[in-house]
Amino acid sequence: EALGCRIVELPRVHDTRGNLTFIEGGSHVPFDIGRVYYLYDVPGGEHRGGHAHRQLEQLIIAANGSFDVVVDDGQTTERFFLNRSYYGLYMPRMTWRELDNFSSGSVCLVLASNRYDESDYYRDYDEFVAARRAETVEESL
Ligand code: TYD
Repeated sequence: EALGCRIVELPRVHDTRGNLTFIEGGSHVPFDIGRVYYLYDVPGGEHRGGHAHRQLEQLIIAANGSFDVVVDDGQTTERFFLNRSYYGLYMPRMTWRELDNFSSGSVCLVLASNRYDESDYYRDYDEFVAARRAETVEESL
């Protein structure tokens, strides 16, 4: 919880015909959904991510298969294993993330609080850590 990242359990409608999970803006995610994107056909051994966002909040779901998400707030890192279609990992703004260990056929579904904006990215880790530290100092004043 120190990182502000947490697993969110999503509603499940169990049915012998197949299960159903739904996500409603404002109730299951703590932000308005501005964009949905998904990663698929990820070759074995590949990793994604390697960046943080200035403002963007996200919920990551292993819609199919499994993968790991390593989150980092500039001080602490934590590895989450996602392998259920009804769990989401909430990531607040200013969270560095790396995704790896994708199983074959996995689908990484992401709900995001805003549209794509390259200027919202930190793609340099040291720059991200410096910005995080600066915010922490400001908060403690
Ligand atoms: P990136 O966020 O770096 O991917 P990942 O974190 O999964 O490794 O995005 C990869 C490329 O896709 C980059 O050139 C920007 C583009 N992109 C969009 O155009 N729209 C989007 O919503 C996202 C997430 C990426």
